[in-house]
Amino acid sequence: MSAAPDKMPSMNDAPSLTVLADQAAYAAAVQMAVDAAAAYYGDGTSPLDDDAYDRLVRGIEAYEQTHPGQVLPHSPTGKVAGGAVEGDVPHTVPMLSLDNVFSPDGLARWVAGLERRLGRPVEVWSVEPKLDGLAISARYHHGRLTQLITRGDGSAGEDVSHAIGTIVGLPGRLAEPITVEIRGEVMMTAEQFEAACEKRTAHDGTTFANPRSAAAGTLRAQDRPYVCELTFFGYGALPLPPGGDSELATRLRTLPHSQIMDLVAAWGVQTTAATPVAGIVAATAEEIQARIEQIAAARADLPFGIDGIVVKADLAEDQAAAGFGSRAPRWAIAYKLPATEKITKLIGVEWNVGRTGIIAPRAILEPVEIDGSTVTYATLHNAADIARRGLMLGDSVTVYKAGDIIPRIEAPVVHLRTGDEQPITVPQVCPNCGDGIDTSQERWRCVRGRECRALASIVYAAGRDQLDIETLATSRIQQLLEAGFITDFADLFFLNREQVLTLERMGEASTDKLLAAIETARTRPLSRVFCALGVRGTGRSMSRRIARHFAAMEAVLAADAEAIQAVEGMGSEKAKLMIEELAELRPLIDKLIAAGVNMTEPGATPAAGAAATVDGVDDAAAAAELPLAGMSVVATGAMTGPLAALSRNQVNELIERAGGKASSGVSAKTGLLVAGEKAGSKRTKAEDLGVKIVTPEEFAEMVAAHL
Ligand code: IVH
Repeated sequence: MSAAPDKMPSMNDAPSLTVLADQAAYAAAVQMAVDAAAAYYGDGTSPLDDDAYDRLVRGIEAYEQTHPGQVLPHSPTGKVAGGAVEGDVPHTVPMLSLDNVFSPDGLARWVAGLERRLGRPVEVWSVEPKLDGLAISARYHHGRLTQLITRGDGSAGEDVSHAIGTIVGLPGRLAEPITVEIRGEVMMTAEQFEAACEKRTAHDGTTFANPRSAAAGTLRAQDRPYVCELTFFGYGALPLPPGGDSELATRLRTLPHSQIMDLVAAWGVQTTAATPVAGIVAATAEEIQARIEQIAAARADLPFGIDGIVVKADLAEDQAAAGFGSRAPRWAIAYKLPATEKITKLIGVEWNVGRTGIIAPRAILEPVEIDGSTVTYATLHNAADIARRGLMLGDSVTVYKAGDIIPRIEAPVVHLRTGDEQPITVPQVCPNCGDGIDTSQERWRCVRGRECRALASIVYAAGRDQLDIETLATSRIQQLLEAGFITDFADLFFLNREQVLTLERMGEASTDKLLAAIETARTRPLSRVFCALGVRGTGRSMSRRIARHFAAMEAVLAADAEAIQAVEGMGSEKAKLMIEELAELRPLIDKLIAAGVNMTEPGATPAAGAAATVDGVDDAAAAAELPLAGMSVVATGAMTGPLAALSRNQVNELIERAGGKASSGVSAKTGLLVAGEKAGSKRTKAEDLGVKIVTPEEFAEMVAAHL
């Protein structure tokens, strides 16, 4: 841009604003903001990160205040969604945006301003997370979900009713046959986002930039051959039609916001009530600030994105008296949290070969602080993706990181290019072994596949959470490979004493110890053996689910994609990949069977349809008698007492042996938290949610029969 805007510390509470020197800089800034808003609200991508966009709009506002005669009609200020979107379904009541503050001072000034306007103190506040998704209006008639409309320009939105049925938390039918409009946010949880990226990659090799843009694209998509799941959280309810005078309409017009949210939840719509960041009511500025800090602290562990905290006057009379501006209500404010998307420099790309031979590029970044951690590496997916996005070394790039999501590069910021950027070179041979690369799929792979990283595969298989072969160090595996005694981990089971004794630094005692450990490994449960195979896309907990579902390797091998999909959490893409992987791994599996390695899961009987025979045991009745039957259990912190020696995976195995479901995150669905030393935020969350908490020692007693 010729009249490049400058950054300067601001006088208000935002981190800074873009200073616009003259009319040309102003016009250029307006254009940049309009383009960015169009991209953000269009396909969810943006050439500016949230902070940069906020700074730019604040600069535009500041310029317009001092030059009212020069305000451009297409300026984004004062408009919902920066004026970027339009729709054709009129909203019953405008769907507005929210004004922002960025600090406790900014919030205090806003509260004082509102109380001045009302001429009285606000006695009840509602404090809620600001969900980072897309606003949507859901119209229910006689309890049935009939129409979904996006926010659009605030007065009319787009009809996206085709998405009905794919949104968790937005039921097709309410618990009561009422006619009502529910407003809230549609988004993707971290898990839904990973699944959506996997589906999209399998389909066309591309991926989504971040959960928000994935949700935006998914909501609009009508003719995708694959379905991605979304999540809804409601944050308001309105009478339908708006002027209606039914009893419900009167209640919705007169009840406090917090009570309306209780109603929404009682109708069966998801609200944040069941999350660790549930909306609460607060009476004082201190209580508001304390909740803001709690929500901000919980952010990194949440399974969905939030970008701030919304503070609302809770009482209907306060809201009515405050009223609305053209863009936002005067009774609510968004307290923004630092952006989860930042711009930094791409300084290098390294190509790593994974255990299964997949060659994946990883971006090396100029370190940048995002969502409370320093990001130095980001996933780049594959070579085609780099080419498609036109990334170059030295580019400024937008990087996204929130909660559990692995940092990812979204896009190059093309207008920040200096001309010194260099093309990214792609490897011509496998960076690990120098052999060829199979480029027939989007994800490149060494032509030697798993063999290329035999050492890593065997180290993984022998690891504590898989076969747990004590005393088998990486250096020993290396020796065995070099001696030609093994080529994969199944060969370990065929080693004889004479062979092992020939290895350097291997005496009689240590040889016997190693062979005894291998003997023990031969009897590990199927879940461990299956995990040791290192099936792509299948880790420890999925291996446990597969083993419990099928009970025997024979049944796994006999299953088709449909049967595999019956395993909890197994999507169609993952099932397809598993079939391919099992075909590739078949010689290894056969070798393990020939070696007499255990191929069954103790205590498991095949689920219906998973195998042909079940010998007369009443599974359901037996399972119901287990001490943790059907309970979702989370273990956190350092385990002590009888559990001290167990890895987290072993604790999870124990939970499942005792009939429970091992989970990593605390939510309202959690039935029990096993809190060891330094349990941290999960313990706080469990306390907030009233989840039962036990020590590792108490837990050991509960499940003593399964230890
Ligand atoms: S209340 C009249 N509450 O944030 C507008 N909005 O940046 C009332 N949002 O358009 C909105 N979480 O899409 C409200 N707890 C929450 C929210 C929330 C996210 C979104 C909403 C709004 C946008 C403004």
